[in-house]
Amino acid sequence: MQLSPTIAAWYRENARDLPWRRPGFSPWGTLVSEIMLQQTPVARVIPRLEQWLARWPTPDALAADSPAEAVRAWDRLGYPRRALNLHAAATRIAEQHGGEVPADVDALLALPGIGDYTARAIACFAFGMRVPVVDVNTRRMIARAVHGQGAAGPARIRADLAAMDALLPDDPAEAHDVNAGAMELGQTVCTARAPRCDACPIAELCAWRAADYPAYDGPAALR
Ligand code: ADE
Repeated sequence: MQLSPTIAAWYRENARDLPWRRPGFSPWGTLVSEIMLQQTPVARVIPRLEQWLARWPTPDALAADSPAEAVRAWDRLGYPRRALNLHAAATRIAEQHGGEVPADVDALLALPGIGDYTARAIACFAFGMRVPVVDVNTRRMIARAVHGQGAAGPARIRADLAAMDALLPDDPAEAHDVNAGAMELGQTVCTARAPRCDACPIAELCAWRAADYPAYDGPAALR
């Protein structure tokens, strides 16, 4: 049993049915959902996302409306600067990318409000590109399963991306399932406070479990 194929197979069997995972969901929808998910839990994002995409189904549609309308529609999602960033990103996409979300990590990084995690999440989840996607859940899963640490410590972008890249298979579709599966595992099973190791598909491979769950005792990050 190996880590990556086991995570990918577990994801295919156990992934929650979320709007942005449905066939035909647009790259714009992925972009909007990832911005909403940055600081808001899944359950609160879903209804607002559906309203947002019904009203502004494309970057052009949002760019044609006012930033104030975007903020109003953001409503109670919190951190309303994200609505302004989304409007600014839509405007940039309309003006510089012919209204299509760019399928390129560097072009995505250049958009307002899009950082390392979000650019790679869009590249992988919307465009099927083989790039490492690392969020807080992935980092915890790698810290435990690979490094035997209870927590991941402070983020170090290059090291974190390299750690995930090392787990990704060459095939982009399989890499997608490893990226998405690692996040899903971290969110639903390998949780920060009460990990459900009895339900974990990689428990037998987990270095943290093998070491009998040593307490996290340092700032050491992923290597
Ligand atoms: N949180 C951020 N992005 C997510 C995604 N694509 N699926 C589930 N939770 C997420």
